This record gives sequence, structure tokens and C-alpha cells, in this order.
Amino acid sequence: MVRLRCTVGRVELKNPLIAAAAEHMIDAAGVEAAIRAGAGAAVVKSTNESEAAKDQLQRAEYVALGADWRPVPWSGDAPDDVTIASRSGLTPQFFETWLDQAVALERKARARDCVLVASLILADLDQAVGMARQVEQAGLPVLEFNIGTPYASQAAKGAVSTELSPERVGAIVARIRQTVSIPLWIKLTGQSERVPDLADAAFSNGADSVVMAGRLLGFIPDVETLEPMLGTSLAVGGFWNLPLTCQWLALSRARLGPDRPLIGINGARNGLDIARMLLAGASAAGIASAVMLRGFGVIGDSLAELDRWLEGKGLTAGDAVGLAADRRKSFAQMPLRTDHWRQFIPAAPEPGRETR
Ligand SMILES: Cc1cc2nc3c(=O)[nH]c(=O)nc-3n(C[C@H](O)[C@H](O)[C@H](O)COP(=O)(O)O)c2cc1C
Repeated sequence: MVRLRCTVGRVELKNPLIAAAAEHMIDAAGVEAAIRAGAGAAVVKSTNESEAAKDQLQRAEYVALGADWRPVPWSGDAPDDVTIASRSGLTPQFFETWLDQAVALERKARARDCVLVASLILADLDQAVGMARQVEQAGLPVLEFNIGTPYASQAAKGAVSTELSPERVGAIVARIRQTVSIPLWIKLTGQSERVPDLADAAFSNGADSVVMAGRLLGFIPDVETLEPMLGTSLAVGGFWNLPLTCQWLALSRARLGPDRPLIGINGARNGLDIARMLLAGASAAGIASAVMLRGFGVIGDSLAELDRWLEGKGLTAGDAVGLAADRRKSFAQMPLRTDHWRQFIPAAPEPGRETR
């Protein structure tokens, strides 16, 4: 499927679907399933040095909620408009075990023209630098560094990070860039009004690509128990986040130009959602929770749908990048729709028929 081939900076992918990190990418079996399903890249579940982050995995909970905010069964039959709410943690494996597993998986990925991506989450920067060095020395081809998990304000102190200042993002990326020369993808938080500024800081300090943007924190009261859903604030995501992801992609492309490769994440469920992220300016797009919820078949189905769409439009994946974003106009450029707003006002009652 030559139509699907694409590039993310220095990295060439057989297609723009990235199997993104979550619990189904902890064990080798899950990552191998993503590779076999045809993903262009597979991101292994993240690690760092924090024991608290590992502990958090053992306390993790996940719920799929219907549009009425009530739990639905965790299965492929869940409705399309499901919201996934969770408190997650990091891989339970020791770093050395995680690294050995990633190296073995990388060989399997390479055999199928899939790029295996190692993923670290920032806790202590010196420790992250050490782990990044080992990732490169082990021969892994790409490092994703997540500095924007939703959980920093809720988790044990120092377990994970939600970086919100461009200065800090720049300093962190510069340290990792000084350490490794392999492609470096920086995953940013979406809990900021400054995502394009954060992306700019990452690129200016040596990032090859920026993944935008991480899930948001939410709070869902349960009307039956009167308790918070799953007891506390949760990371939330679902189809409804796609417009926000596309907005960050389009704004970042406008700000940074078309030569800064972006990766879309958060809210993609299928091939047409990947198409939407490409049109908004992503060079590739990740899918995590749809696969964790519905299984690895989502990957093949999404690729087939994306390929059909590209064929119908006479485009390659690369051609699609940024097409809609570059046609985005300012509000003032929009045509006049004089008095359009009046259709939302109830008709005035006939004289003498007013009701009290
Ligand atoms: C249960 C769960 C665990 C996750 N674990 C990780 C992780 O270890 N590292 C990471 O960078 N992102 C992690 N994520 C975030 C996903 O990779 C992704 O950014 C997010 O879920 C939004 O994409 P989606 O709408 O396709 O799910 C996790 C998400 C979920 C739901």
C-alpha cells in the first residue's frame, strides 16, 4: 500500500498509524499483535525510574462510559461515542527487562517494516537522561519522551510530569538532545493554552517531532453513588477530543510551518479519524484507547478505511498532511450571513395570543 507510506522527519513509516502506548502495549504479546496488525509504528508502554509510578499501575482503574456517563461493558461492542476514563501507571517491569523486551520486539517490528518506539516518561531529568542513553545504546530507532502526562497533579510527587512552560520544555528537550542522536519525539500535554509554544520550544531544542496532545484530567460525579467515578479525578478521552487535537495541530502548523513534523494523538478511533488528523497537519497519528477497548483488529480496519479514503480522493498520506489546516480562514474572512442568528429566536406570538 504505497499510498500509505509517509515520513515523520527522519523516520519513514509504511503507514501513518501509530499504535500508541497504553496497558495493551506492556507485554510483548500486545506489541507483537500491533506489529502483526500492520501498524506503521508501535510505541511500547512507557517506563521511568519512579517506584510510585509502578505502584500506580497496580492501583489503576479503567472505565468505558456511554454518552449518559454510565459505565458500559469494556468490549468492542461499546458505543462509538464512548468516553474512556482511567487512572493509569507505568510499566511494572524493571528498566533492564523493559529494555531487553523492547530490543527483542524491535527485531520483530523491523522484519515487518514497523518502527518500534521506546517511550520514557519524565520524572527525574538526570535519570531520564541515563535511560535515554541506554535506549540509544541498545539500538532502538526512536525515542518518545512524554513530558505531559495528565496525572502529575494527582499522582505521588515526582512520579510523572505535566510540563506547562516553554522554557522548561526547551531545557528538558535540550538535555535529552545532547545525550542521544536518534529521532526524538516529544509528547506534550493538552492541558495548556500554549501547545504551539510548547511545540516550538521542543523543536527549537532538537525534537524531531512533537506528539500532540496528551489527555485531559476530568471529574465525573456518579449520580447513583454520589461519589466521584472511580473515586477521584481521572484522565479522560474519547471521540470528542478529536477537534481539540486537530485544533492544536492546525495552530502548531500555522505557527511553526509545514516542515515541523507533528504527530496527532487523542481521539482517533478509525481510519477517517486518522485522515482528519492528517488534514489538520499531522504527519502520522496515534491510536491507543480504541485498540485497548476493542482489540488489535482496530488497526487493520483503520488502515483499510484510510487507504480507501486516500484512493477515493486520489491522495497519498503525505499529500493529505495539512490540506484542511492550510485552508483555515480567520473569522473576519468569512462571508456575511446577515441576521442568520435570528433563526434561533422563537417567532413572536401573534397579537392577542401571548401566553402568561
Ligand atoms: C490506560 C492508558 C494508559 C496509557 N499509558 C500511557 C503510557 O504509558 N505512555 C504514554 O505516553 N501514554 C500513555 N497513554 C496515553 C495514550 O498513549 C494516548 O496519548 C491517549 O490515550 C490519547 O489517545 P487515544 O484517544 O487514542 O486513546 C495511556 C492511555 C491510557 C488510556
